[in-house]
Amino acid sequence: MKVTIVGAGNVGASCAEYIAQKRIASKVVLLDIKEGFAEGKALDLFQTATTLGFNTSITGVTNDYAATAGSDVVVITSGIPRKPGMTREELIGINAGIVQSVSENVLAHSPNTIIVVVSNPMDTMTYLALKATGLPKNRIIGMGGALDSSRFKTYLSLALDKPANDIHGMVIGGHGDTTMIPLTRLASYNGAPVSHYLDQPALEKVAADTMVGGATLTKLLGTSAWYAPGASVAYLVDSILNDQKRMIPCSVYLEGEYGLNDICIGVPCILGANGVESIVDVQLNDQEKQLMSESAQKVSAMNAALNDIL
Ligand code: NAI
Ligand code: 2OP
Repeated sequence: MKVTIVGAGNVGASCAEYIAQKRIASKVVLLDIKEGFAEGKALDLFQTATTLGFNTSITGVTNDYAATAGSDVVVITSGIPRKPGMTREELIGINAGIVQSVSENVLAHSPNTIIVVVSNPMDTMTYLALKATGLPKNRIIGMGGALDSSRFKTYLSLALDKPANDIHGMVIGGHGDTTMIPLTRLASYNGAPVSHYLDQPALEKVAADTMVGGATLTKLLGTSAWYAPGASVAYLVDSILNDQKRMIPCSVYLEGEYGLNDICIGVPCILGANGVESIVDVQLNDQEKQLMSESAQKVSAMNAALNDIL
């Protein structure tokens, strides 16, 4: 199984590291536009193989798409990241051009690949990749909800003072500070609703912290986060390559699901060997449906910025 990661920066390299360490694929190719950069990252990572005991080969190339041929999954992380004070939306102009040309290049060498889009603003970049390539909707997947859900569960575990892996929960909607929807009503501490243990103000704080989870890290780090994003991408790639059929919130093209059309936005998906195998209806209540509709309006408004490109 071969995975190409376009963009060997913070998120791309972290993703390669987790894919290799967890033995998710046998081959990882890192590709970057910066001369020598992907080669350097790949060599450094591959030199951990004997210490960590994995056999995944990791190679790096500068803009050489021939080396990506036959990839089962391609992850697109190329683009500029957020700087403090910058929203994901402000990245649109630069990243749209990059995501479009990268998608076309990877498909020229891996026509059957499944594409995972990470570059921000992710929902709009996923929509762009889908429209620009004309690929079937099961093969274009935006990663955002997996990361937002991991942040949600982390904040819940801190508020509850319980082990993170005993917490279950999901964030749907757009991958933006004002568009994501932490599904607090459905979150649980090993099956027991978290509302049994946390009062409304505490639950609201967890949701608010989750929604600005990325911005909090950008402020602390001076650029956007990479460990949790890289791990979240690896989690998605594992479900696809190893046909795990996990339910993971991903940004995918909707045609009527959740009452929405012609948009890529986060909804719970079953990910397996065919990419998005189905979308799960988690039966939102009226208030959650209203939030989803508001989130979709904001994402669609951002997609309008693509009118000049598409
Ligand atoms: P970074 O700056 O560390 O890495 C980006 C890499 O892309 C650079 O090495 C750059 O040389 C490369 N690049 C730029 N144009 C390229 C092209 N045309 N072809 C190949 N490579 C190219 O940035 P970082 O932190 O890795 O973030 C990458 C993207 O992912 C950003 O847009 C960021 O906002 C987004 N992001 C999305 C998350 C999500 O949950 N969807 C989470 C974290 C970051
Ligand atoms: C994150 O959520 C900025 O999308 C990036 O960390």
